[in-house]
Amino acid sequence: MGPDLAGVTTRREEDWLKRQIKDPEGLIEENDPIAMQLLQESDNIPMVSLGLGDEEVAAVIAYLKSIEQQTDVVVGLPSQYVPTVLIGIVVLIILTLVGLRVGKKKVDVR
Ligand code: HEM
Repeated sequence: MGPDLAGVTTRREEDWLKRQIKDPEGLIEENDPIAMQLLQESDNIPMVSLGLGDEEVAAVIAYLKSIEQQTDVVVGLPSQYVPTVLIGIVVLIILTLVGLRVGKKKVDVR
């Protein structure tokens, strides 16, 4: 029924999202500019109030955010590789230090 929610947590302020999910009719009554534009785009079909409590609204927003984070990970370094990469960097630093120490030439100046 409603608009695609993909990316909605980055597209909207959190306080606005809370209100839209908890009390969408209240936003329309207040002539909120975003709500009015959405109402126009949905051919005047308003979102009904879902009757969720504050905790449930927070859980829905946390869920929506968690989906956004999953798409971020695909773009960057997959999180399961991060420990391997960090350990690799530390091992390289240690090997370099050991190599520098062991490979030091002693030169006698007479
Ligand atoms: C847990 C359930 C739901 C959540 C979390 C949710 C969330 C949202 C959000 C965040 C928006 C704003 C989208 C944006 O800013 O682009 C929106 C708009 C909208 N939603 Fe929902 N929604 C839910 C259920 C529903 C249901 C059951 C309906 C209809 C049967 C509905 C109909 C609409 C419509 C028509 C809009 C456009 C705004 C308007 O015309 O007033 N939604 N919804």
